[in-house]
Amino acid sequence: MKKKLLFLGPPGAGKGTQANLFCKKYGLIHLSTGDLLRDEVSSGSVLGIKAAEIMNKGELVSDELVLSIVEGRLVNINEGWLLDGFPRNVNQANSLKNLLEKINQPLEGVILIKVADDYLIKRLVERGRQDDNEQVITNRLKIYREKTSPLIDLYKKQGILEEIEGNADIDVVFSCIEKSLG
Ligand code: AP5
Repeated sequence: MKKKLLFLGPPGAGKGTQANLFCKKYGLIHLSTGDLLRDEVSSGSVLGIKAAEIMNKGELVSDELVLSIVEGRLVNINEGWLLDGFPRNVNQANSLKNLLEKINQPLEGVILIKVADDYLIKRLVERGRQDDNEQVITNRLKIYREKTSPLIDLYKKQGILEEIEGNADIDVVFSCIEKSLG
């Protein structure tokens, strides 16, 4: 099983859900920049207060902040890792590439979880996180299309991207991911 992974997909696709299951089963470290940023927000730090304003609008927080969060953690992992929600734009993808070259841990697989917008909006509105209201979700989807979706071609060209249909039961999606990475 591949052990240096990235899950890509629009908000609500199920990246976090699937990453949790996968990391538990295969003993990988789950690095979700969304979760790490929400921890920072809960801590009430100055950085967290700044990040919360941006997250509540559905915009991307600065590349510098996200990179510093990821870099500090990735260098100390030996058992394998799964990136969820990072990278989110071409600049972050280039920084990740440089970092992985430096630590000699090439990315082995990228899973793109695909779900149609209507289902995504329904799932997120039902979940009801702070940034899960319709206006903010619409902006998150717009940012995904503009800034994150170019990464699909980038990883396709590298021959490491597998597309998974995410509009199915959680365990069905999980099996498809396992098959792709096995
Ligand atoms: P982040 O936390 O990464 O949010 P997101 O990408 O919008 O992803 P979600 O957590 O909403 O969706 P998901 O795909 O993980 O789905 P999930 O499994 O949770 O980022 C939040 C914010 O932080 C960003 O907007 C930005 O401001 C900032 N940020 C984060 N990373 C950044 C970065 N790298 N650079 C800059 N800024 C960054 O599932 C969603 C719901 O659907 C759940 O209720 C779940 O139970 C349900 N569900 C899951 N799978 C299924 C299924 N198969 N069937 C039915 N329901 C399902």
